[in-house]
Amino acid sequence: MSLTYWDYLKLDELLDLQEAKSDPPEHDETLFIVIHQVYELWFKLLLHEIEKIKRDFSGNDLFGAIHTLKRVRTVMKTLVGQLDVLETMTPMSFTSFRDRLDTASGFQSAQFRELEFMLGYKRPEMLSHQADDAPHREQLVRRLHERSLIDHFHDFLAHQGVVIPDEEKSRDVTQPTEPNEAIQDGLLELYKKHPNLAILFELMTDFDEGLQEWRYRHIKLVERTIGRKLGTGGSLGVEFLKESLFKPVFPDLWAIRHRL
Ligand code: HEM
Repeated sequence: MSLTYWDYLKLDELLDLQEAKSDPPEHDETLFIVIHQVYELWFKLLLHEIEKIKRDFSGNDLFGAIHTLKRVRTVMKTLVGQLDVLETMTPMSFTSFRDRLDTASGFQSAQFRELEFMLGYKRPEMLSHQADDAPHREQLVRRLHERSLIDHFHDFLAHQGVVIPDEEKSRDVTQPTEPNEAIQDGLLELYKKHPNLAILFELMTDFDEGLQEWRYRHIKLVERTIGRKLGTGGSLGVEFLKESLFKPVFPDLWAIRHRL
């Protein structure tokens, strides 16, 4: 028998995964579950694509990196746009099933944390939100100790003739990315002299801005839905989320813009 669309996509399994906790079921809980599952699928794709960009960077494949950055930038815009759908849910509606979430929280999205670690925003303390026996914990620990996208980007810059300072080459990769003036000077040269590299740097800036937009829109969603309530994950909610709001993934690309 030939393969069908339904079987290829394992739709029996996929469409059986939206199980409301409220009883009798609250109408909007289906939206809440579907949108989170959709985000997790997009996170999965982002991890897959960024893994490729790391290889492109270290292999000095400019066009490969540009091609995939276009994709991840577009996914990021989609992630931002989709929050509109969830904002059609009122605070009253969310309250009707929020208690059922118990301590379940975006804090436990191991894939989002993986994404942050992969991009170089490393906050080891965030591991405490993953239970010791959580299935994805090991993978997250691996990501923490792995070189971030920024380290692979430095490999790419070295291919382009930028001298990467020793302190950057031997840095502790479990620490978050820090801006570096020598790298900024190198980037500036490349930006001005090589329009093809400028395209890459602009795409990286787009992606970075997209992630910050997502954070902003998520905060506004949280604010309009639960106001000043604490998060189900036990954080201060909006106040906690604001700490990451303007954190760039590529600080050196932002630091030079007034010099361009
Ligand atoms: C009504 C909708 C939502 C509310 C009220 C909400 C609320 C919150 C709150 C309060 C936090 C802080 C952690 C805590 O104490 O729980 C948080 C974190 C988080 N949420 Fe949401 N959220 C909503 C929708 C979403 C959606 C659709 C996603 C998509 C995946 C998402 C992903 C995350 C992630 C990844 C974090 C961790 C962020 C970080 O550590 O910087 N949330 N959320």
